[in-house]
Amino acid sequence: MTKASAPGKIILFGEHAVVYARPAIAVPVFQVRAEAVVERAEIDGVEIDAADLARRYDAREAPADDPLAAIIRSTCARLGVEPRGVRVRVHSTIPMASGLGSGAAVSVAVARALTRFFVQPLADAEISALAYQVEKLHHGTPSGIDNTVIAFEQPVYFVRGQPVESFRVARPFTLAIADTGVAAPTKIAVGDVRRAWEVERARCEALFDEIGAIARTARAAIERGEVDALGPLMDANQEWLRALGVSSPEIEILVDAARRAGARGAKLSGAGRGGNVIALIDDSVRVRVEGALMNAGARRVIVTRVEHAARFDESSGTR
Ligand code: MEV
Repeated sequence: MTKASAPGKIILFGEHAVVYARPAIAVPVFQVRAEAVVERAEIDGVEIDAADLARRYDAREAPADDPLAAIIRSTCARLGVEPRGVRVRVHSTIPMASGLGSGAAVSVAVARALTRFFVQPLADAEISALAYQVEKLHHGTPSGIDNTVIAFEQPVYFVRGQPVESFRVARPFTLAIADTGVAAPTKIAVGDVRRAWEVERARCEALFDEIGAIARTARAAIERGEVDALGPLMDANQEWLRALGVSSPEIEILVDAARRAGARGAKLSGAGRGGNVIALIDDSVRVRVEGALMNAGARRVIVTRVEHAARFDESSGTR
């Protein structure tokens, strides 16, 4: 039996614009994880046991767009193995359709558990590439940021089509992640932005430029330990996301509640329309902000610390 797990993620700056080749910043969230177990079983093919979905099924009979069957198929093809007599069990504490990267985390955990089972380690970049193929099933034009930050498990500065860059978090900072409770599939928000871009290309391109510039400035601030600069940048990013049409009343209520309770800045994170809001907080206001978010209707609040990743200093990237 072999096991692997993968964290959730949040996008700090740059969602949506990243699909259109502007930079974005994302960090792993270790408080929630997807876990995959691969074991021998007295069966002919591959059984998928998706506990959270209360489903057990044969991977060979799954439709082509089944994400679990797809990641098993593509990983085994990459490893050059015929999966037979194997059970793949999956469990995740990452809420689905909430901007925390649940789909990509499940793919990364399954791919990595399979590489361990067949004793053929793959580099993080290869695991990420396998998960990216499945992301395409979730929504047609993924930037690749979710699978990248989740496979590398460190802060990333991501530009579509360019080699992944990590960066130094010179001073740790704390974020409250509040769930609106509204499940919002990435595909829908991304599709709506695409339609808006087709109709009003110049306006959307200008918004993407503003968002990309914020991501660049934020990276420099994080590398210099200028945490004070991040709050206003989050607020500005939220303005542009609202102009892009991906905010929602539930998001605005939580953003407002966090700011009133003393957060330095707040914005939606991920595709928007629902999902999660992130707020930059000092320890002194943590309890107040958490309480305000819950009172304003948050389904739950996770507090996470963004800090320098030890793996940033490692070179090999193979696990
Ligand atoms: C989803 O987590 C982030 C989006 O920018 C989509 C993508 O990058 O593929 C909305």
